[in-house]
Amino acid sequence: MQTVRKVADLRRIIRRARQQGKRIGFVPTMGALHEGHLSLIRRARKETDLVVASIFVNPIQFNNGADLSSYPRPLARDARLAASAGCNVLFVPSSGEIYPPDFQTFVEVTQLTRRWEGKLRPGHFRGVTTVVAILFNRVQPDIAYFGQKDAQQARAVGQMIRDLGFNLRLKVLPTVREPGGLAMSSRNQRLSPDERRNAKILFESLQEGKRLIECGLRRETEILRRMRARILKIQGARVEYLAVVDSETLEPMGRVKRPAMLLLAVRIGKTRLIDCLEVR
Ligand code: PAJ
Repeated sequence: MQTVRKVADLRRIIRRARQQGKRIGFVPTMGALHEGHLSLIRRARKETDLVVASIFVNPIQFNNGADLSSYPRPLARDARLAASAGCNVLFVPSSGEIYPPDFQTFVEVTQLTRRWEGKLRPGHFRGVTTVVAILFNRVQPDIAYFGQKDAQQARAVGQMIRDLGFNLRLKVLPTVREPGGLAMSSRNQRLSPDERRNAKILFESLQEGKRLIECGLRRETEILRRMRARILKIQGARVEYLAVVDSETLEPMGRVKRPAMLLLAVRIGKTRLIDCLEVR
C-alpha cells in the first residue's frame, strides 16, 4: 500500500490505473478506522482492481471546534489496518491540499438534509457533500462505498451523484455492529464501560420498532412511544431525535409504510450516538 499526501501524486497513480483499464474502488473516511470502515475496504477489494481509501478529518463538516480538535488521528494504526483489509492507495491530504486559500465553492443537497442530522448540525451535510465531490473528482472511482450507519449521509451523497451527474456507482453497505449490537463508531471510545453496556439498548429499541412494524403496527406515534420508553431506561440518555421515515425521502409518514427507516440520535452522557435500521 502506498500512502499519498499530494493530489499531484494521486493523479499520476489514477491516470496510470485508468490507462491499464483498472476499475477503481473508493472508500472515503475520517480515519480512526474500525471494522465498519474495514468492511467497506474489503468489499472494494473484492469488486475493483485498485482500492483507494482517504483519511481526511474534514474541517468544514464539523460545527463544533472542540469535536474537530479532539477527533482521533491514529495514522500509523490506520495505515496498518487499511493495508491489511486490501487498500492499495491511502490518500491522506492536508487541509490546504483539499481547500486552497481562496476556496469558495460548496455543494449542497437541499431537501434530504433539512431534517434529523442536518437540522441539529447546521452546515454539516454541506461540508460532507462538498468534500465528497472534491474527492470523487480527484479519485475518479468506478464504485464508491459508504455505510448505511450514516443513512442520511448516504442518501445525500446518492442524490448529489444523480443531480451532478457523477459517473460512478454508489454502494451502501450494512452497519457493522459490536457483539452486543452497538453500531461501531469512533465515538464509542468515549463511552465509559457502564455507558457502553447500556448503549446496546439503542439497537434493541430499533429492533423493537422493526418488530412492531412487521407485526402490522402502523401508527408512528405508538411505535416511537414504545421505542422511546426503552431508550429512556438508559441512565443519562437524552433523545435528540427518534423517527420512522420513508427510506427514500427520509420524511415522516404518519401511517408507516414499507420500506421504512428507523432513525435515532441519542446522547449518552457526553457522547452523541446515531443509529438506524431499515424495515423492508
Ligand atoms: P467516517 O465517519 O470516518 O465514516 C466513513 C465511512 O464509514 C462512512 O461511509 C460511514 O457510513 C462508514 N461507517 C462508519 N461506521 C460504520 C459501521 N459501523 N458500519 C458500516 N459502515 C460504517 O462518514 C464520514 O467519515 C465522513 O462524513 C466522510 C464521508 C468521509 C466525508 O468527510
